[in-house]
Amino acid sequence: MRIGTVEVDTRLALAPMAGVTDLAFRTICRELSGCYTVSEMVSAKALCYGDKKTPGLLRLGEGERPAAVQIFGSDEDAMERGAAIALEKSGAAVLDINMGCPVPKVANSGDGSALMRDPDKAQRVLRAAVRGAAGVPVTVKFRLGWDKGSINCVEFARRMEDAGAAAVAVHGRTKTQMYSGTANWDYIRAVKEAVSIPVIANGDVFSPRDAVRILNVTGADMVMVGRGTFGNPWLMEQCAAVLEGREVPPLPPLSERCDVAARQFELARAYKGEKIACLEMRKHYAWYLKGVPYASYWKEQICKIETAEDFYKVTAGIKRDLA
Ligand SMILES: Cc1cc2nc3c(=O)[nH]c(=O)nc-3n(C[C@H](O)[C@H](O)[C@H](O)COP(=O)(O)O)c2cc1C
Repeated sequence: MRIGTVEVDTRLALAPMAGVTDLAFRTICRELSGCYTVSEMVSAKALCYGDKKTPGLLRLGEGERPAAVQIFGSDEDAMERGAAIALEKSGAAVLDINMGCPVPKVANSGDGSALMRDPDKAQRVLRAAVRGAAGVPVTVKFRLGWDKGSINCVEFARRMEDAGAAAVAVHGRTKTQMYSGTANWDYIRAVKEAVSIPVIANGDVFSPRDAVRILNVTGADMVMVGRGTFGNPWLMEQCAAVLEGREVPPLPPLSERCDVAARQFELARAYKGEKIACLEMRKHYAWYLKGVPYASYWKEQICKIETAEDFYKVTAGIKRDLA
């Protein structure tokens, strides 16, 4: 598949998820599956103001090519300049524009999913980003529409194609649905039938079977997987296997899963420092233990991890008691 001028040799993408798919977690997923990746969203305005923390979120790994970085915003000047800065800082092959975020802080400022209510503005915003990207392909990620009475993803996708999008990713829910109900893949199919650029289908892929189904139902070029990977990067490995016609590998035993969690911790520690890595790994590590019987004591210990030493003590305990 090609995104503009960029050749992408996989049909599997890891969804961008702020606070989850940082460089450490993307590295793990990519190593297991060879998936395409998109950075966590960053604010175009924050990039323009020279916010110190923002560029770190755009950092890509050494083997992380091709990959996209994602920006959001609705101010045309900021989007044009933010696009250029994001690409300069990251060296990404693709720039993705977030027009689907439903979080009030974002949507109430006219950014993210709010742009779906104003397709004219969304087109101007995209054109500005395309100018700033100066030849680097620009993709757009959005939802079905604002609410169930105003579903406009098909027309919106056409408008994005007209304004220069090299591909679109569609999450099969409306803004007001947030994450409730189920994703409607039929609308994604309608988008696929309406545009000639690649379409990436997203929403509710929780198993390798779902990955096959969403591609069959939608006819999309690529499947994007989000929440199903929480504490389970092996979902990406399993989806890659099924899409490449290989046998689906089983979930590895718990002790091996702990080793991968430890690797994620070490990557995060190298990129962000011990303190932040410890705080952020609490959430990830608890997800790694989801569904493991008798894990409640160790989940409590995970919530108290403050140092690398704590991390490894807890890991040894989990392996001793639960694996
Ligand atoms: C914690 C969290 C953070 C997210 N952050 C982003 C983001 O930064 N950019 C974006 O385009 N979508 C974001 N999303 C939406 C996901 O990319 C994806 O569209 C959504 O989770 C549906 O896919 P899923 O059903 O496979 O999870 C986020 C979702 C979650 C749960």
